[in-house]
Amino acid sequence: MSIAPVVPLYAEADAAGEFISDRMISPAGYIGTTPTALIGRADDLARLASVLACPEARLVTVTGPCGVGKSRLVMEYFRQHPPGPAGVVDVLDFGYAADAAVLARVVRQLNEQRSRGVRGVRAVLERIGEGRHTVVLDHCEDVAGELAPLLAEFRRCCPRVRIVTVGTTRLGLYGERVVRLQPLPAAAAADLFVQCARSVLPEFALTAENSGPVLALCRLLGGLPFAIELAAAQTKLAGPELILERLQDGFGDLRRLGHHPYSRHSTITGLVSWVSAQLDAGERTLLTQLAIFEGPFTMRAAAEVVPGFDGGGYLIMERLIDKSVLVPDQRRDGELSLIIPNVLRLDAASTFTVQPYYPALRHAHGDYFRRVAAAGACAATGREPDIRADLVAAFGYWQEAGDAAAMAVIASALRLIPRDGEPAARAGPQVPAGVTDVLTKRELEVALLVADGLTNRAIAHKLGLAEWTVVNHLRKVMRKLGCQSRVQVTRRLAAS
Ligand SMILES: Nc1ncnc2c1ncn2[C@@H]1O[C@H](COP(=O)(O)OP(=O)(O)OP(=O)(O)O)[C@@H](O)[C@H]1O
Ligand SMILES: [Mg+2]
Repeated sequence: MSIAPVVPLYAEADAAGEFISDRMISPAGYIGTTPTALIGRADDLARLASVLACPEARLVTVTGPCGVGKSRLVMEYFRQHPPGPAGVVDVLDFGYAADAAVLARVVRQLNEQRSRGVRGVRAVLERIGEGRHTVVLDHCEDVAGELAPLLAEFRRCCPRVRIVTVGTTRLGLYGERVVRLQPLPAAAAADLFVQCARSVLPEFALTAENSGPVLALCRLLGGLPFAIELAAAQTKLAGPELILERLQDGFGDLRRLGHHPYSRHSTITGLVSWVSAQLDAGERTLLTQLAIFEGPFTMRAAAEVVPGFDGGGYLIMERLIDKSVLVPDQRRDGELSLIIPNVLRLDAASTFTVQPYYPALRHAHGDYFRRVAAAGACAATGREPDIRADLVAAFGYWQEAGDAAAMAVIASALRLIPRDGEPAARAGPQVPAGVTDVLTKRELEVALLVADGLTNRAIAHKLGLAEWTVVNHLRKVMRKLGCQSRVQVTRRLAAS
């Protein structure tokens, strides 16, 4: 394998007017060592290895949401499986081409070669490396449309070449094998947080006190490694509880601050804007509307809640899945459910309240979850913790609408639902019947959010109240329930 530094594609293109050269191919820089261990991806590595072990798998795409760890997984694979003496791994990393026009020129040149027929394509390939084993094309989503026909031709005329594309979008070519990455599950996400926190604060450890906030913030960040690394880097300034509090406040500083040497984005704002730029207007609108769902949702739920969904909503959703903006949640059997990575969802949700469709959307969401609660669909389905946040939001909607019957239905459904990802001792909150009798609707909602671990500030933000109003409600909750602290409120709600 040749050793060469990472050379950004555009620099190479600008300097030489030449886009395919050995200098552009940078396996050592790409596959080189990283200072942290790869966490929680043993199964995904094994999946990738078994796909790449198939001789007929000549076009393999590793895909998944932005920042989920696609490049990292592929690097790790080639680190663990270096090519034999006769084989070579070449890497073209499109991710650092800051100028889209330059990128477009690169692909146009490649396609011009292609239009000269098989010999032209061969010429391009020879310059990449005739007979070389594997070509990795990373961060190629911006050029996926142009690459697709080129790669189809590569495969036809260069049977010894295997291509691995890495990006948020699959190419959709015949015979393409897709390895899709999901965000990290809770325990692995917490391990990643600890590993990254230790790199800035070597003595950092999970304790009985901080494990709750660490799990909660990993959950809030949707198990996305990029965001977890950013949050963990803040450990040198603040403990997990304070980081969580700032995250609950619309991701706080994390939106703006950040330094991320191993990722192509450096802030959450950067990542969110990049994803948004990949979407057309219809996709952006639907994403914003779907952000009403706080947890996973099915196609059926989307069709019932989003106004005018039948006019093309299914097709747009399919495109959002292809772009890894909606992530299929395959952990459970049955109907496919989808999740929007939380960093994207919260950004979309911050804009929808001013949209003209918002009142209808909120009503439909409240009504859908009232029906889910009434049908008893919350109990013993394995989905309980997932729909908890949506039930609480629906409860808030009916509370504002002054519909006591709907609130009662949802409150009793909530009583059956444990909290996700928490140690068993902290499971809850459930809603004992006596509590709903003594608290007003607003007080109950505040109490539920306190038991969810939210700070006063986060509750105020979520309910659209001033912080001092939340403090007043909480005081009344404590007086009526005979509690001295937030912990006691949580326990009281859990004690049915
Ligand atoms: N399983 C993991 N263990 C440790 N670190 C990880 C893991 N997954 C990702 N990372 C780190 O998270 C950051 C983002 O990962 P990476 O750049 O591979 O994501 P990506 O999916 O390729 O993102 P993009 O869509 O922007 O290309 C990197 O710093 C990477 O080292
Ligand atoms: Mg990447």
